Amino acid sequence: MCYIQGEMKIKRISLLASLACGLLICSALRTAPPVSAASPQPVRARHGMVVSTEENASRVGMETLRRGGNAVDAAVAVGLALAVTHPTAGNLGGGGFMLIRFKDGRATFIDFRERAPAAASRTMYLDANGNQTGDSWMKVESSDGTRESMLMVGPRASGIPGSVAGFDYARSKYGSMQWADLVAPAEKLASEGFVLDYETARSLSSQNTRRLLERYPDSKRIFLKEGGYQWGDTFVQKDLASTLEILRKKGPRDFYEGEIARRLDAFMKANNGAIFLDDLKNYKVKEREALRGTYRGYEIVTAPPPSSGGVAMIEMLNILEGVPMKENGFGSAKSVHWAAEAMRRAFADRAEFMGDPDFTKLPVKGLVDKKYAAGLRASIDVDHAGKSQDVRAGNPAPYESMETTHYSVVDKDGTAVSVTYTLNGGYGSGVTAGDLGFLLNNEMDDFTAVPGKPNMYGVLQSEANTIAPGKTPLSSMTPTVVTKDGQLVLVLGSPGGPTIINTVFNTVVNFLDFGMNVQAAVDAPRIHHQWMPDRLQMENGFSPDTIELLKARGHNLSVGASIGDCNAIAIDPRSGDLLGAADSRHMGKAVGY
Ligand code: DON
Repeated sequence: MCYIQGEMKIKRISLLASLACGLLICSALRTAPPVSAASPQPVRARHGMVVSTEENASRVGMETLRRGGNAVDAAVAVGLALAVTHPTAGNLGGGGFMLIRFKDGRATFIDFRERAPAAASRTMYLDANGNQTGDSWMKVESSDGTRESMLMVGPRASGIPGSVAGFDYARSKYGSMQWADLVAPAEKLASEGFVLDYETARSLSSQNTRRLLERYPDSKRIFLKEGGYQWGDTFVQKDLASTLEILRKKGPRDFYEGEIARRLDAFMKANNGAIFLDDLKNYKVKEREALRGTYRGYEIVTAPPPSSGGVAMIEMLNILEGVPMKENGFGSAKSVHWAAEAMRRAFADRAEFMGDPDFTKLPVKGLVDKKYAAGLRASIDVDHAGKSQDVRAGNPAPYESMETTHYSVVDKDGTAVSVTYTLNGGYGSGVTAGDLGFLLNNEMDDFTAVPGKPNMYGVLQSEANTIAPGKTPLSSMTPTVVTKDGQLVLVLGSPGGPTIINTVFNTVVNFLDFGMNVQAAVDAPRIHHQWMPDRLQMENGFSPDTIELLKARGHNLSVGASIGDCNAIAIDPRSGDLLGAADSRHMGKAVGY
């Protein structure tokens, strides 16, 4: 499933949004901020909160907290549970990022993203003429009709999976519970099954899913059902349960050098794959310094490279800092224009500069510099949309030395954990590694096979993101924490490929500038611009007047997408209560105690 989609979800959003407009006048007479009126109150709790895209997984996290686990323990348990209950993106066969912010203000960033295997090369997806090869193409259905997309499928599409190593690393260093106790709930969900919600049943039964998964016998056997699934069906995954049992009994290293590794290696050898024993054995989690920026007196703690997300978001916030967003108001043409122009510029820089910092020097300091942003701000015409072809990457200070899921956790000590992890496309490469029962990612598509050619999210990338053995593909995942004067304010993130960055950005601006409560900030209609293609995507819910004014400014609009799935937690500054908000676009759940 891609996170820019139409149809049912949009109807819900437009309903919410029209309600928002309708109730604006009424609620102006009451004490609540008007922009909160369209959304339910966030879920309130005193001791701990977990917000994920699937209820069973959120409950596993909350039970882990109740049993005395800290936020890192809970985050590991949720990640393992989502690998069972959210098969589009939850995973053992993918990778991701975990941002941890401790109560004392320290923060750290655990990079457990996939790496290119030793057999990878920059030409591995090219034919003799330098064109991208066959099996990376398939038809996918989008809201504007079926189209070809560069969705990478098959056993050669995967990077070395990092999720198990990442969870092991996080638990060993920052958790407090035993590994086996964190695996057990996921194993139970896999062996006893769980009840499919509407969204998961619909996704498993969709034509796109069938088209992808029926190509691979184990995927077909495990995930597809004749006639499709109904919500309310119980979904059992015996193969995955056995793999989780091995992980519980033998420990996480088994994935990289034990029985699981050997079976994965054998599967790859038999199926023309590219990930072998040595790749698994040599996989390393990288703990990195979290990226920090500021916005109107708040601190933004976010994802450093190899994510482009934190850098781009801080660049955009720096641009907006000189703009009276609050006065311009949510949803006004002025606010949307400024935000879109900031996005256009940050994404031009993303395309040009970003890649794996362990392979390429990146001008991170320059890109997040306030003076650099002031120059970009000055280049924005208040009354006219820029033209992406005229907007090239800027000149920051010199080099210094569609499926994913996000969940947020805060524990009773105020430790916040923000995790985004993924198989990349929905159901990843489509390949289940034999009877190991888990899907493998197609993260190699986050590299650029041909610099200057768009990947499956349509984003352009440069030499900095070409393929090399051991290299990490560029990501947009943006797990983020916002603080003020040392106090935790907001924990958030989202799936959605490049729209992740803008989903987090929209939500931060809604919360900080427009004074929305966390649920309203998450639910409010979003916009997305990624420089190329030169198109401003808008969810339903903006007023026709705004849309007309934006068109008059020259924006090339595409209205009606559904963007992101932000699962966030805010802290009530008065009471210290935890306020959980699952994104109303999807069926996630905030669970607290
Ligand atoms: O790391 C990235 O940026 C992508 N692999 C994320 C993919 C994604 O969010 C797809 N979800 N809709």
